Order: sequence, then C-alpha cells, then structure tokens
Amino acid sequence: MSGKRILLIVSGGIAAYKALELVRLLRRETIAVRAVMTESAKEFVTPLSLGVLTEDHVYGNMFDLKEESEIGHIQLSREADLIVVCPATTNIMAKMAAGIADDLATTILLATDKPVLAVPAMNVRMWHHVATQRNLTQLRADGIHVMEPDSGGMACGEWGKGRLPEPEVVAAEIRHLLAVRPEPVEGLSFPPGGSLAGRHVLVTAGPTHEPIDPVRYIANRSSGKQGFAIARAAADAGARVTLVSGPVALPTPRGVTRIDVETAREMSAAVEAALPADIAFMVAAVADWRTDAEAVQKIKKSGATPAPLALVENPDILAALGKHPERPRLLVGFAAETERIAEHAQAKLARKGADWIVANDVSGDVMGGEANAVQVVTAQGIETWDRLPKDAVAHRLIEKAVNVLAAD
Ligand code: CTP
Repeated sequence: MSGKRILLIVSGGIAAYKALELVRLLRRETIAVRAVMTESAKEFVTPLSLGVLTEDHVYGNMFDLKEESEIGHIQLSREADLIVVCPATTNIMAKMAAGIADDLATTILLATDKPVLAVPAMNVRMWHHVATQRNLTQLRADGIHVMEPDSGGMACGEWGKGRLPEPEVVAAEIRHLLAVRPEPVEGLSFPPGGSLAGRHVLVTAGPTHEPIDPVRYIANRSSGKQGFAIARAAADAGARVTLVSGPVALPTPRGVTRIDVETAREMSAAVEAALPADIAFMVAAVADWRTDAEAVQKIKKSGATPAPLALVENPDILAALGKHPERPRLLVGFAAETERIAEHAQAKLARKGADWIVANDVSGDVMGGEANAVQVVTAQGIETWDRLPKDAVAHRLIEKAVNVLAAD
C-alpha cells in the first residue's frame, strides 16, 4: 500500500471525464483519492460517477452544513499529501493566480500549504491567450506544478495545444510528486534490488515518414503510445532511457531523453549514435520502403497515366542491431501482424536476431488505441498475454527484462 492520499479538484471542462480514468489508475496504485467538484464540473461528469470510483463522498458545496460538520474545508486539504487540479480550466487557473476564493475548490487551494499539481485542458486559443500564459507564469512562480497540455485534435474540432495529457501521464506525474514507485497490475512488482538503475534502455517508437515530394510522404497508423509507455516504465524502473521517436503527438515521459526523427534512415542513425545500450525495445513501425529519390518539386498529376513511385527498401534497424558488435544484451522487436501472428513472429525472431518478438494483431483497434493483446515469442516458447492497457503491457515487459538482467 502506498498510504498516499490526494485531493482531486475537478473543474468544469469537457476533459473532466478523463478525471474518472485518472481516479481508476490512482486507486489501482493504492493511492487514496478524495474528490471536490466545482459547480461547472458537475455539468460534465456527475458526482455519483466520481463518488463510485473514489468510494467516498464527493465534496462541492462550501455552504453545505453537513459537509462542513463532517470534515470542513480546511481539513480536506490537511489530510492530503498532494492536491491535483485536473482538468484545470483557464478560469480556475486565473482564480488561483489571483488568489480568488469564491467556491469550495478555490477556497481549499488558497487555504492549503500542500503541494499542488495543475493539469490544464482548454481550447488552443484560450491556452495561447496572453492572460492564460501570464497566469501560468504566475502559478509556476508561486510554486504550483503545472503540466504542459498535449497537442492534437480537440473536442471543439480545432487542432493544437491544450488537450489534457493522457491519464497515464498524469498518474505518472502524481506518482513522481508523491515519490511512489509504480505498482504494476495484478500483484506483479519489480523484484527487490532488481530495478534498472545504472542501465541504458533504448526505445524506438512511432511511425516513420518517408518523403515523396515536398508536400507528400509515406506513413502508417502507429501512434507511438506503446513505445512511449515502455520508455516511461523503464524510466520508472530507474533506467537511463533514450527514446528515438518518429512523428507523434505525445509528450515526452519524465526523465526520458527524446530524439525526434522523421525517416527510417534518420531513426537508424539515431539508434546507432545512442549505443551502447543494455536493452533495446524496437517498437517503431518503421516504413519498409522509401522513394528512391525525393522529388525536389511537388509532383503534378498532369499526364495520361499516374506517375509510378519507384521504391527502395529501408535499412532494417532491428536486424542491424541483431548482428551489431555492440548488440544490446536484450534485444526486443515488435511485430505488427494481421494474420498468422505467432508464426510470423517466430520467423522474425530468427531473421532479425532478436531475443523476443512482441507480436500483436493490428487488424483491430490496436494502432492508436489504449490497449494491446500481445504474444511474447522467445526461444523458450510463446506467452499469450491478456488484453491490457498499453502501460500495463509496458510494465510487464520491463519486469520481464529486469528478471533477464538479474539472472545474468
Ligand atoms: N523494424 C526495423 N527496421 C525496419 C523494419 C522493421 O527496425 N526497417 C523493426 C520494427 O521496429 C519491429 C520489427 O522490426 O520491432 C518488426 O517490424 P515489422 O514491420 O513487423 O516487420 P518487417 O520486417 O517490416 O516485416 P513485414 O513488414 O514483412 O511483416
């Protein structure tokens, strides 16, 4: 049991529903959560849903005699190790920066001496507004931890910075602030003394983009989520982590060195430059082919027949590591398959000189999704894992890697 408690303040934005998932993740790590909602938050999620997940009363009314007599608003912050405002709207950030206390949530925030984490979520133009940025600077100067929002598509149909980071990322930040070691699912845990401290873990993630001309490229549907989850889990286990990432819209996990690349050849060079490594997880969906020469000008469609694309094969980064003089002690490849999963994975294990191939069926919603059902193929046989959240798959893989290194 972590024995840690957080007070979660949910303010009113469309991302409030993600607070429910956050509570679920924290409870799984035995972090107790007590929740406070602003009036507008109740327009987005109900106190009932939050109450069911926290298994506690949800507080919201400053002038509710029963709530006051039961616990009192000062007590709410006193018993918490950390106060988390998630999502933090631009409105509550403004009130916090100005020291306004006009409801239960803001009164607690003004009355507390506990560390506070704010997780902003708002429309892109609100985020970039000079007033929001001024408040952000003030909050940070006041010692409030403010997470960077994610970039991507928004509920309002716009695209840009302002999305709430994924609940797993928020949970990792909370763990970090509470100094709680991650508790892997289903009772598994890192063996004592078997962490990855002093080890270098190299991870590739995301797709690669292979340019056709100045405006077009060949790509694939990889989101980078599984690779980023592995990088995060390795860092949580104490490793030094280098994450070589293709173009993705994901924030860099805490404590991870990220190298952004675009093409397979750039990824290959970045991997080479990052060696030596104790463990390499090659999670990237590397494009197998690139055009033989990138057109300098945009290719025009005029002409009777469509212009054929002359393709050449990209370097196989995993296979090159498999026979590299500085081959990592543990070399793990991934195999995205749509049929005869285990059979193809076994062939890849031999062909690429890897120790494990983590095979997944990508004919469903795996690419871009939150969960993954994998088969881990090794020289010893095949393990079939249940469908798990990608962070849980990551923790299990890291745990398995810790055991391999510990047995050396
Ligand atoms: N991989 C790599 N470099 C490449 C292609 C693949 O490092 N040029 C790695 C991937 O990161 C993954 C593994 O090899 O760990 C398997 O990738 P996958 O695309 O499934 O295999 P391919 O070799 O491309 O085989 P195929 O497309 O024929 O299934």
